[in-house]
Amino acid sequence: MSPEWPQLSRRSALKLGVGSLASAVATASLAGQGCSRLSFRALAETAEGSAAPSQSLQAKAAAKGLLYGAAASYGPLSTDANLAAAHIRDCRILVPENELKWLTVQPQPDRYDYSQGDWLAQFARSHNMQFRGHTLVWNQALPPWFDQVVTSQTAEQILTQHITAVMQHYRGQMHSWDVVNEAVAVGHTRRSDGLHPHPWLDLLGEDYIELAFRTAAAADPDTLLVYNDRWLDYETPRDQGQRTAVLNLLSRLKASGTPIHALGIQAHLNGSETRFNPNLLREFLADVASLGLKILITELDVEDKDLPADLALRDRRVAQVYQDYLSVVLDEPAVIAVLTWGLSDRYSWLSNYAARPDGLPVRPLPLDSDYQPKPAWNAIARAFDAAPQR
Ligand code: XIL
Repeated sequence: MSPEWPQLSRRSALKLGVGSLASAVATASLAGQGCSRLSFRALAETAEGSAAPSQSLQAKAAAKGLLYGAAASYGPLSTDANLAAAHIRDCRILVPENELKWLTVQPQPDRYDYSQGDWLAQFARSHNMQFRGHTLVWNQALPPWFDQVVTSQTAEQILTQHITAVMQHYRGQMHSWDVVNEAVAVGHTRRSDGLHPHPWLDLLGEDYIELAFRTAAAADPDTLLVYNDRWLDYETPRDQGQRTAVLNLLSRLKASGTPIHALGIQAHLNGSETRFNPNLLREFLADVASLGLKILITELDVEDKDLPADLALRDRRVAQVYQDYLSVVLDEPAVIAVLTWGLSDRYSWLSNYAARPDGLPVRPLPLDSDYQPKPAWNAIARAFDAAPQR
């Protein structure tokens, strides 16, 4: 399956330069790739670097009142011009993959380090992207000093200080913040409410979640406060339990007047999982929306670890999973944003976390490792095109 876009990549357009646009278009037409007036404009906009091409994912999403963007890390984004160009072309929102996690941002109890986060915020600002924060309270990515310093006496102060300091630093700059990440993990806990074993749970009890949201609302009253979680997608016992537990948690938080505005669904999907039930997902999304919450798809990607090696087959299956999932999710009016967990296969956490047994590179994202759109890109584009207007 060959990608439908672009007629010419941003890279080729940049290499050709603005002066060569007419011949570039002629070349593309000669190559039989159907360069219409629309794509000429897209190409011109791209080459000038002033606006996103009208056929980018961000433009397709924006046409429906949706936001599309992706996670990126400081290292690749600040050194790989092709990756930066791809983000500028396709994304209207950026989320740091690791740079705002506790470990990075507060490496010592009395020292905060915003250097990488600030660079990413500036990148977003200078390319007209929104910026989102990930994540304030999580049981992972905690700094080495954590266990020595945090006791039941100091826990509340350390938690609230961290949230306040980081959110005030980015006050006024954030589209949204993942205030609490992965608090629920059914199957990993004996608790009937599904709450995950967690340092904060041990030290402060289940109220740590409400405390985190109240502290967040005081630190930056103008950003969207999100509860972010995983395993909410499939018709498996684990995901069904997770949906119930997350819905119960959200209901409890709303009932106690906690300032929470949205659910973030990570959506790390699996290309070899067949137990996808659109009706169950629709029902869950509607239940979340009925609590008055917005929904963001925050970390979308499709694991291809157990798919056949054949590239065309593999890409087609990954694209199908994107399409099946997004066509359901985007039908729900409460869904306001979609972010993939990376943009190019060259940089995916799944290269480490779900490597293929045959050693072939993983292909879970919209662009291949040369930044070219794959069938997954087309599937996402089609889902935006088919989505109802917000
Ligand atoms: C992952 C990053 O992508 C990796 O680079 C890092 O080593 C571990 O964390 N759910 C989350 C994200 O909420 O923070 C995780 O990100 C992926 C799963």
